[in-house]
Amino acid sequence: MIMLRKAIVGLGAGALLFGSAACGADDGDGSGGDSGEGLVVGFAQVGAESAWRTANSDSVQAAAEADDRIDELKFVDAQQEQEKQIEAIRNFITQQVDVIVLAPVVETGWTDVLGEAETAGIPVVLADRGIEAADEDLYVTRLGSDFVEEGRKAGSWTVETFGGGETTRILELEGTVGSAPANDRKTGFYEVLDGEGLDYELVDSQSGDFTAEGGKSVMETFISTHGLEEVDLLYAHNDEMGLGAIQAIEEAGFEPGTDVQIIIVDGSKAGFEAGVDGKVNYIVECNPVFGDQLMDVVVQVEAGEELEKFTPVEEGVFGPDDFEDELPNRQF
Ligand code: AHR
Repeated sequence: MIMLRKAIVGLGAGALLFGSAACGADDGDGSGGDSGEGLVVGFAQVGAESAWRTANSDSVQAAAEADDRIDELKFVDAQQEQEKQIEAIRNFITQQVDVIVLAPVVETGWTDVLGEAETAGIPVVLADRGIEAADEDLYVTRLGSDFVEEGRKAGSWTVETFGGGETTRILELEGTVGSAPANDRKTGFYEVLDGEGLDYELVDSQSGDFTAEGGKSVMETFISTHGLEEVDLLYAHNDEMGLGAIQAIEEAGFEPGTDVQIIIVDGSKAGFEAGVDGKVNYIVECNPVFGDQLMDVVVQVEAGEELEKFTPVEEGVFGPDDFEDELPNRQF
């Protein structure tokens, strides 16, 4: 029976840069690469900005831990900074990991570093977010959500709910500027509104950086600039920003879910609880629990198997009639 060494090494990018990282799979020659037993995988994660992200990190780490085919996962939390992800990838290359997994914080700016991985012969898998089409040759495959489709789902509910009435006045809380989910959730949403001919006015749209603090502070600005009396809908690109906005709405003396209807994207426990309390009207699911599937992809990629360029994870939508029944099923 082969005894596998197993290490999940969690490091800030800074620690890796300054060489103080412990490398569980280091073979003694300074490389963290093939120990002859299982794969060594480097994962440059976005950060810990949301419950979704924490659930995603937990899912990937647990799957690597449980998988005999994976010897070590080198995990870097990049604190939502692209520079830290680039540093992490360069360290993974130096350590000669078998596969690099990247959840890119933004879509652009990856050409050089992914080119370096290619030159080093290390395959790259994108998890969760995508990058610009021009760099498509620099990664093997992406596993994650279809963010455009998520936006379309939010758009369809908006048309069903408000279509045929007076002008629908909308506020939008966008995710991190330049990130795939912010760009795509916007694209899909307006594609449906425009395609279906909804009479709407976008009152304001700003980024809350996918955080509760960001959502609350932008919502406070929205309220002081535009008021809420004439606003029909708040479209928040994730749960955290929606929940932060709900606080701002309540503090301003309005009733979230009633005075202004609210769509959120993710489907965390806290999001569903807000739905049960009548403060959220529609939830578009974004599923972070794909660690097991990711490990399969990593192994297939390292073996040189042909894979689809993009594999979407399964996701649903939930309205008021579903919130109470679905709440106990939420995993994050
Ligand atoms: O990339 C997925 C998005 O990133 C999730 O919707 C959000 O909560 C996270 O920050």
